[in-house]
Amino acid sequence: MQLKNLHYLSGLLLSVFIGSHLFNHLMAWEGAEMHISTMEKFRSFYRHPIVETILFITVFIQIFSGIRLIKKVSKTGSRFYDKLHIWTGIYLAFFLIIHISAVVVGRYVLALDTNFYFGVAGLNRFPFNLFFIPYYTLAIVSFFGHMAAIHSKKMKRELLGLSVIKQANIMLITGAGLALCMLYGLTNHFKGVDIPPAYEVILAK
Ligand code: HEM
Ligand code: HEM
Repeated sequence: MQLKNLHYLSGLLLSVFIGSHLFNHLMAWEGAEMHISTMEKFRSFYRHPIVETILFITVFIQIFSGIRLIKKVSKTGSRFYDKLHIWTGIYLAFFLIIHISAVVVGRYVLALDTNFYFGVAGLNRFPFNLFFIPYYTLAIVSFFGHMAAIHSKKMKRELLGLSVIKQANIMLITGAGLALCMLYGLTNHFKGVDIPPAYEVILAK
């Protein structure tokens, strides 16, 4: 019970960051400059040492408490959304460990500005994109899938004549649509982004 509360509270905090982070990626639709200037605005908040420390702690809590929750609840339901809840959690744990490690290595080991170009280098270069396209797409869809699964459990009534399952389906499909929009922007409308020489180090074979 306490574990669930911890996961719930830190999930709420983390969702505020993830919401703004995904909005930032949507801004890539308008080009790299727009993405970078939006990130600079958000950074002035989340890069504050206290805020960023809290952010990293919530990521750690989310993964740690999520894995323990899986052990507790994995046999409790067989509906589609019960299973999706578990699978999206597992994927988010995998993604967040790699993603945060990459950002930390990029910043402190490679001394790069972990901006738009850092995020999209692998997405825009073959064969790295074979990994990065499903890697990012699944992360965004998993986040919305996790939220849809929570909604399907907590929501008890129809909304605008839609059953709870239909409401959850809409959340999941919206996530998939937004993932497609983000990928469209982050790949310069599928035409590809020229990666500045400083970021070539990430793509070195
Ligand atoms: C993006 C980060 C995540 C957010 C925002 C998030 C959010 C949440 C929230 C709000 C709940 C509902 C808690 C409640 O019922 O009171 C939940 C449940 C759960 N989460 Fe997460 N979570 C995240 C990542 C993870 C990860 C990484 C895992 C697993 C490794 C995980 C596994 C679970 C499980 C197993 C449940 C309980 C499912 C059930 O009650 O049947 N979550 N999550
Ligand atoms: C389109 C997919 C994504 C791309 C291209 C991307 C890219 C990036 C980049 C470039 C940074 C560094 C930010 C900075 O230096 O200020 C970052 C940080 C981060 N991302 Fe993502 N991200 C994506 C999706 C996600 C998702 C789905 C999550 C969560 C589920 C997430 C969680 C985080 C976290 C927690 C940080 C650390 C923030 C910090 O630097 O303090 N990202 N991401």
